[in-house]
Order: sequence, then structure tokens, then C-alpha cells
Amino acid sequence: MVDSDEREPPRRDPHDRGAVVTRAYVLHPEIKSVRHRRLPELALAEAVSLADAMPELEVVGAEVVRLPKVQPGLLFGTGKIDELKGRFDAARVDLVLVDGPVTPVQQRNLEREWGVKLLDRTGLILEIFADRARTREGVLQVELAALSYQRTRLVRAWTHLERQRGGFGFVGGPGETQIEADRRAIDEEVVKIRRQLSKVVKTRELHRAARRKVPFPVVALVGYTNAGKSTLFNRMTGAEVLAKDMLFATLDPTMRGVTLPSGKKVILSDTVGFISDLPTQLVAAFRATLEEVLEADLILHVRDIAHPETEEQAADVGEILESLGVDEDVPMFEVWNKIDLLSPDIRDALLVQDARTPGIHAVSAVTGEGLDPLLAAISAALDDERSIAELVLPFSAGRARAWLHDQGVVQSEQMEEDGYRLAVRWSARQRAAFAAIDPRFADTVRDEARDDNRDEFPVETGPRTPWTPES
Ligand code: GTP
Repeated sequence: MVDSDEREPPRRDPHDRGAVVTRAYVLHPEIKSVRHRRLPELALAEAVSLADAMPELEVVGAEVVRLPKVQPGLLFGTGKIDELKGRFDAARVDLVLVDGPVTPVQQRNLEREWGVKLLDRTGLILEIFADRARTREGVLQVELAALSYQRTRLVRAWTHLERQRGGFGFVGGPGETQIEADRRAIDEEVVKIRRQLSKVVKTRELHRAARRKVPFPVVALVGYTNAGKSTLFNRMTGAEVLAKDMLFATLDPTMRGVTLPSGKKVILSDTVGFISDLPTQLVAAFRATLEEVLEADLILHVRDIAHPETEEQAADVGEILESLGVDEDVPMFEVWNKIDLLSPDIRDALLVQDARTPGIHAVSAVTGEGLDPLLAAISAALDDERSIAELVLPFSAGRARAWLHDQGVVQSEQMEEDGYRLAVRWSARQRAAFAAIDPRFADTVRDEARDDNRDEFPVETGPRTPWTPES
């Protein structure tokens, strides 16, 4: 066994402004007794892309490790551990990434056996999220997830140590005191972060309410990681959003105002990529980055149609959207991206399917093929989205009035003798939802007109033109 202290120190990459390069080796354990949904080789490829998303890592090797079953203390069998050790030594590996869960005990033992640092899948995704989080909320959510991960590690490491000491049974002994202190410190930190988060969420609510008043529909791009959302977003906006062959290039949604060729103005929102088997501790951090989707008037589900597991990826995205509570009534397009990578036969077959199926659009974000029809379809889908109405609500309808304000659809409001007179600008979906609150409101719609007074984008800030009823 080589002690980790005897290893060469990590090298510095001369091209990377002095950053330390860590040589990483990726293992994807394929456990026979567990049913796997995805091909192990593709899962490994995804794990390698994840590692590549960290600029300071250099992946020097990767392999699928087939196991009949998990060995409790070491994960792998001893023969396999020796064999891998030979490879790690030869490749001067500093860090082993295990694409799956590794218990704290297994981690400690493997690190000792191999003389390397080890990170499991949750740890790696946490590192990536931390690296990519751009908004205050994103950063706080990731910190929270990291603390909860750390806390479970502490607890389990402690039970392990207790067992190792042969059960002295020192309740309140030094080991426990230290762990307890660490846990308390973590808990205090968690409370602090939660307090900060609630403030951030409130501020964001204000921003959102302000944005809701921007009279343009929101189009959200969602999709599996690496599907090409950022590339498509750039194509549509001419914006400089990171587009690299990097997973999770986007962690927080980015929004831009875009004028479509039809002259219609929309807000385009790019979101973080989905990933299968997202560790549960990371779900909240991920959800925080996706809330914009809940407010979208149209969702573009961008798919890498050239990926061998495109169907499985699409199923994952569908599942997550459903669990987020995305309204079934929100129209959704499937954007089949990367058609330039397909063989001519498959491509032709897809284009036929595209032409026949409403809501499917085959494109290449790189060559630009198929984008014009997509943009035209977006315009058409949103055309009847927003309309203006005048409502008179009796004073007793406080809940309905609060709902309207909450939705950010109120353009002006006046108190009159018989109640509140409100001018609202809403989508068909919001109108239907309002009518469902109380059927008597169906009759309160006095005047409804298409909203054709689309001005310039009042993007983010700046004084807004007061709403005036169209006569
Ligand atoms: P995340 O931020 O991880 O969610 O990724 P993303 O969905 O935003 O993907 P991104 O736009 O960063 O694209 C990922 C890779 O796919 C990049 O290398 C792009 O150049 C490439 N790519 C995107 N669209 C196309 C396409 O239409 N054709 C080809 N050949 N490559 C594409």
C-alpha cells in the first residue's frame, strides 16, 4: 500500500493560470443484483462528462466495474481493488470518482487502500453545482445541500468509529463530543443559511412579481443536460451564455427578451440541465433553479435526438416536470435538436414524423436548420396567450382579488361603490383558473380585447408605461 503522502503532488497546468490539475479516474459500478435502466457504458460516459465539467479535473481513465454484489466495507471485492490499484498507480491518479453512492466507511477504506481521494456521485454533483451556482439563492441552496451531505457523513462515520473501538460504550466520550459539536456547528450553519434563503426568496418574489407585469409571454427551455439548450438560447437571442461541451453549464435560469421574426416579443428563459438519478439532497437546489418553468407560457423541451438514450432522457425530464407540478395545460414543444448528427436515413424519417406531429420540431442549433419554422410555431402558439379584461369584484371577494395580485396580472385597480374595478392582462390559462375559483366571476368579465399594444421590452427595470384600457 502506498501512503498518500508518498504520491507526487498534484501538477500545475501551465495553460490554466496556475490552477492545480487533479488527475481523476472514473468508475461506474454496475451491480448485478440491482436492475439498471441504462446501459452502463452510457452511464459511464455521462459520469466522465460530469467530471469534465470541473475545469480543475483531468480524466485520465474510466471504466465500468461489474460486481456480483456490493461488499459492505469496501464496495468492491479485494481482487478488483488490487487490480484497480495497479492502474491508478500507473496513471498517477489523485482522485477516484465513483459514479454511485459510497458509504463513508467504504470511502475511508478505499482511500486508504488506494492512497487517493475519493468522491462519490453526490459529492461530485455538489462540487459542480457549487462551481456553477450564479445567483445568491443558487449558492445558498448548494451550501445547504453540502451541509446536509456532510452531516450524514459525520453521523455514519461516528457509528463506524464506535464499532471499531470495540464498543467501549462511552456515551458522551471524546469521539462523540467532537462529532456532536461538529453536528451542532453544522445545524447552526443550516439555520443561518435558511434564514438568509428566506430573505432571498422574498426578494426574488418581488422581482418575479415585477417581471410578471412585463407584458410578454415567457418561453422556458428545459431539457436533459447537454441537450443543447444554451446553444439554442444563444441562437435565438444572440446572447453570450456559456455553451460548452460541459454538463451543467447553466445552473441558474437566464432570461432574455427576444423579438421573434414575426415581431412578437417573448422572454426566453434558459434552465439548468436535468440529470437522471439526481441525489435526493440535491433536489431542492435543483428545483430552485427551475422555478421559472412553473411560470412559463410555453415550454420548449430540448432533446438531443442523436443520443442513443434520447427516449430515456425524455422520460426523465417528463417525470421531473411532473413532480415539479408543471401545469398540464402549459403548452410544450419537443425540440429535437442535433439533427445534423444523424445519418441521412434516420434524419429523413424524423423529419417526416416532425411534419406529421404538431408540437414536434426537428432542428439543429448549430447549423440553424429548422429554426425558422420553430420560431414561427412559437409565435403562433403564444398568439392568443395574453388578453385584457376588466373585472369588477365585490368587496367580499378578497381571496379572488389576492389571487389576481399574486398572479401579477393586475394592471390597474380602482375602488368603486360596488367593489374593485380591475384591469387585468392574463393568459387563457389564468383566465380559466380564475373562473374556477368561483363561477360567479365568469360573468364579471365585461370587456375583453386582444392585447396588441406591444411596446418595447421594459426589460427588468425602467419606468413602465401605465396601462390604459383600449376603447
Ligand atoms: P447544460 O448546461 O449541461 O444543461 O447543457 P445544454 O443543454 O445547455 O447544452 P449546450 O448548449 O451547452 O450544448 C452541449 C454540447 O452540444 C455543445 O458541445 C454544443 O456545441 C453541442 N450542440 C448543441 N446543439 C447542437 C446541434 O444542433 N448539433 C451539434 N452537432 N452539436 C450541438
